[in-house]
Amino acid sequence: MEILVAGGAGYIGSHMVKMLVKAGHVVTVLDNLSTGHRSLAKYGELVEGDLADTALLDNLFAQHDFKCVVHFAAFSLVGESVTNPAKYYRNNVCNTLNLLDAMVKHDVLNIVFSSTAATYGNPVYTPMDEQHPQSPINPYGASKLMVETLLQVYAKAYGLNSVALRYFNACGADPELELGELHDPETHLIPLVLQAASGRRDSICIFGEDYPTEDGTCVRDYIHVLDLCFAHQLAMQAMLSGQLSGAHCFNLGNGEGFSVKQVIDAAQAMVAQEGFNIKVQQAERREGDPAVLVANADKAKQTLNWQPQYTDLTTILRHAWEWEKKQPGLVGRNFVY
Ligand code: UFG
Repeated sequence: MEILVAGGAGYIGSHMVKMLVKAGHVVTVLDNLSTGHRSLAKYGELVEGDLADTALLDNLFAQHDFKCVVHFAAFSLVGESVTNPAKYYRNNVCNTLNLLDAMVKHDVLNIVFSSTAATYGNPVYTPMDEQHPQSPINPYGASKLMVETLLQVYAKAYGLNSVALRYFNACGADPELELGELHDPETHLIPLVLQAASGRRDSICIFGEDYPTEDGTCVRDYIHVLDLCFAHQLAMQAMLSGQLSGAHCFNLGNGEGFSVKQVIDAAQAMVAQEGFNIKVQQAERREGDPAVLVANADKAKQTLNWQPQYTDLTTILRHAWEWEKKQPGLVGRNFVY
């Protein structure tokens, strides 16, 4: 089956493409490589292009017989979205509109959309289910919520089927070590902690130790990138088999929270076995961080029959650590500091 993966050269998208190709699908990757990497586009056919380019989209859909689109192509830095909201609304919303319009025009009526827990804003209760009020506190979350709204009205007006998957904290790497996280700048906790272990970074700063949590640091729901991808595959199958029609949304998380300190301690215990040490520093709170973000993902488990496989934090850290050790400048080093 032919599938288009927009943003398939990015962190989650590249894992998705690999999974789909391994399952026997023919995948076209559309990526402008602004945050994606050619080196991650190992599977599928890469078309270097932008969702702003409506002529390119028209040609692409005319030339292929896509049955489904999986859409990851978006900017995702919360802080940047506050200082440069135009960039976020233009790409994440306007360009997605181009994609949806091309789909409708060419009668490709199934899409899996990469949404986020950031559409909820500050938690009113925890764990959060899909009924939790959506009141984003930054333009990134707002841009993703706008697309969810578009998907709902496109379902009614044009018969577009969609599944919006609201990720909590994506992490981990391909266990075969072909793919992993390559953000520049890197802002996520787990890769930063492991860079502090490998020596690519001097230390890890804990952003705030005075939150109303057990150890005072923020609690997050860390979900392995492959578990996210499994859910996309199931969502796609559910639409194509007719089990799901119209617009749907699901949370994707493990339903278990780990604090920043717990993540650092688990990483420290893991890397200590290889003789590494993680230097930790205290820092001020980072603006906009809720104390606790944990998913209730029962709906995805019940409706999509999704069952995350890599729920153990040390397994997640192990995959990310093996990937970190493969990064340029680190391969072959004896890691003694
Ligand atoms: N943190 C640190 N030090 C660091 C980096 C992060 O203490 O150097 C802390 C953060 O303050 C936060 C936790 O680690 O408490 C996790 O931070 P991440 O940046 O890894 O992830 P976020 O929870 O901020 O962000 C994730 C997604 C976003 C999404 C957001 C809300 O990456 O795309 O969840 O759902 F918007």
